[in-house]
Amino acid sequence: NNKYRVAVIPGDGIGKEVMPEGLRVLEKAAQRFDIALELTHIDWASCDYYLQHGDMMPPDWKAQLGEMDALLFGAVGWPETVPDNVSLWGSLLKFRREFDQYVNLRPVRLFDGVPCPLAGRKPGDIDFLIVRENTEGEYTNLGGVMFAGTEREIVIQESVFSRHGADRVLKFAFDMASSRDRRHLTVATKSNGIAISMPWWDARADEIGRSYPDVTIDKQHIDILAARFVLQPQRFDVVVASNLFGDILSDLGPACTGTIGLAPSANLNPDRSAPSLFEPVHGSAPDIYGRNIANPIAMIWSAALMLDFLSGGEGSGRAAHDAILAAIEHVLREGPRTPDLGGSASTTEVGLAIANLI
Ligand code: NAD
Ligand code: IPM
Ligand code: MN
Repeated sequence: NNKYRVAVIPGDGIGKEVMPEGLRVLEKAAQRFDIALELTHIDWASCDYYLQHGDMMPPDWKAQLGEMDALLFGAVGWPETVPDNVSLWGSLLKFRREFDQYVNLRPVRLFDGVPCPLAGRKPGDIDFLIVRENTEGEYTNLGGVMFAGTEREIVIQESVFSRHGADRVLKFAFDMASSRDRRHLTVATKSNGIAISMPWWDARADEIGRSYPDVTIDKQHIDILAARFVLQPQRFDVVVASNLFGDILSDLGPACTGTIGLAPSANLNPDRSAPSLFEPVHGSAPDIYGRNIANPIAMIWSAALMLDFLSGGEGSGRAAHDAILAAIEHVLREGPRTPDLGGSASTTEVGLAIANLI
């Protein structure tokens, strides 16, 4: 039985409140399913660290984390003291790029017992996967400001799409779709307005799709696609999107299922050449930090996705994942619930309730 090395990185704000609940459930599941974990607690990659050291991370961060099998991450960002582009480019976005975590997998699901903000929807109507490109696209630091501070000021912000980068995430999405019952892939595009990269992205999808005759492809412009998340969510099975479009869809999708406090994500390096990273979709939520009312389920579900990935989707890791998901389902049905779900329970109470069911 090999031992998985996991770096635990709470980060900022509610990252520090939901992480203990993620760990509580993770350790319970590891014990029950006899999974050996070696946890390394990291207090850097946080704005507090930045304020003390002038950098988000120590110079040898990559060597330290590169040793790990996985990274369990809370959230980073404290815009009151550190600009968001500095804190995020100095931590999370660096991990995604340097560890080549090119797939950001974000499940969206309506659970029994959770009031749906969309009229007339029941569990089963909303159950899809967002596959977000995670290392390139619209997220770059290429460009600059010219004639700064004058009337002639000009800002250029480049996007980068590589054939290697697009093809690998599209293949992953087609593989995912092809393994599911409905075998349906929605490709997010904007080939009408974004005149160079998006027609090219569509062509790459068509080309890759030729190897997947069993998967139906539906290309949709991002504007109407967003509208259909709200109006016809049952239409979606797997949705593949560029970095920015995937970011927006992965808050909108969970919002349609009641709260973003449930939504997990897996930042995957499918080739396993470096550690993958598991984190809630949400951020550090400065507006609720310090009250112990954040929903810990996104964090807990992310830990379950980590166990599943570490075990290659089989054996004890898969069993532990399934047990955690069943416990989450139970608590969403019966309570306790945090305020984002209309309840009055604390972060800790929800974490304890889920852990007790494992
Ligand atoms: P946010 O996700 O932190 O919060 C958005 C809203 O959702 C807030 O009203 C918040 O209270 C609520 N919310 C979020 N998570 C919740 C939870 N678990 N339970 C209950 N309510 C929850 O987004 P934001 O306000 O745009 O960003 C705040 C900071 O977090 C910024 O610094 C931003 O850059 C950063 N951020 C980090 C990540 C990440 O680390 N992956 C993701 C998103 C935002
Ligand atoms: C997310 C977050 C990040 C992103 C931010 C914090 C840079 O919103 O993980 O969805 O845009 O990828
Ligand atoms: Mn986001």
